[in-house]
Amino acid sequence: MFITFEGIEGTGKTTQIQNIKKYFESRGKEVFLTMEPGGSRVGRELRKMLLHVDNKDLTPLTELFLYLADRAQHVAQVIRPELEAGKVVLCDRFADSTIVYQGYGRGLDTTMLQQLNEAAVAGLWPDLTIILDIDPEVGLKRATDRNIEEGKAMDEGRFEAEHISFHKRIREGYLTWAALNRDRIRVADASSSPNDVFERIKTIIEARFFATG
Ligand code: TYD
Repeated sequence: MFITFEGIEGTGKTTQIQNIKKYFESRGKEVFLTMEPGGSRVGRELRKMLLHVDNKDLTPLTELFLYLADRAQHVAQVIRPELEAGKVVLCDRFADSTIVYQGYGRGLDTTMLQQLNEAAVAGLWPDLTIILDIDPEVGLKRATDRNIEEGKAMDEGRFEAEHISFHKRIREGYLTWAALNRDRIRVADASSSPNDVFERIKTIIEARFFATG
């Protein structure tokens, strides 16, 4: 079972992934948590490059190839082996982030992106993708407060520093992409309390994997 989580900054993705991990564990499953960018050893080096505020001069294509390199390595070295070992793999961001950030966000052609994603994932698509959806004004405020708290405003603030209009495009991009991929992608409203959001995600997972009749 391979499940990916997507959404703009500040949706509470990290908290929810932890909740879902506990949920699967309580059902006796072994869970492996991972993330992009940075889910493999080489990927952690790529992540530093991608997210540092000093690297504002990365061109959209350079950025794209670094994310794809991270993904190819992550799938081959981490995700596929963990799935083969029988674990539930929960991944914070995956191929849909590329479509939405590099495509709807930076303006690269989504058909080309999808082909490159196909190459990077080498047939390994998620069984389910959950998009946590929130108004960018609310999400960004949460993300900025958290960055300041964690002192990572300079090291990992490159995307948070984008103008609000960028984040609005990202949100719309996610919703458009979800509508085009209804068989795999579900959208969960993330504007309410963490507990409510968790209940929504649980309902989605149960309908997808544990529905009876
Ligand atoms: P991260 O700190 O993991 O963001 P979050 O906590 O919001 O998940 O940073 C990842 C950033 O990289 C995020 O802003 C989205 C961006 N990204 C892309 O632009 N393309 C991609 O393919 C991926 C995986 C991430």
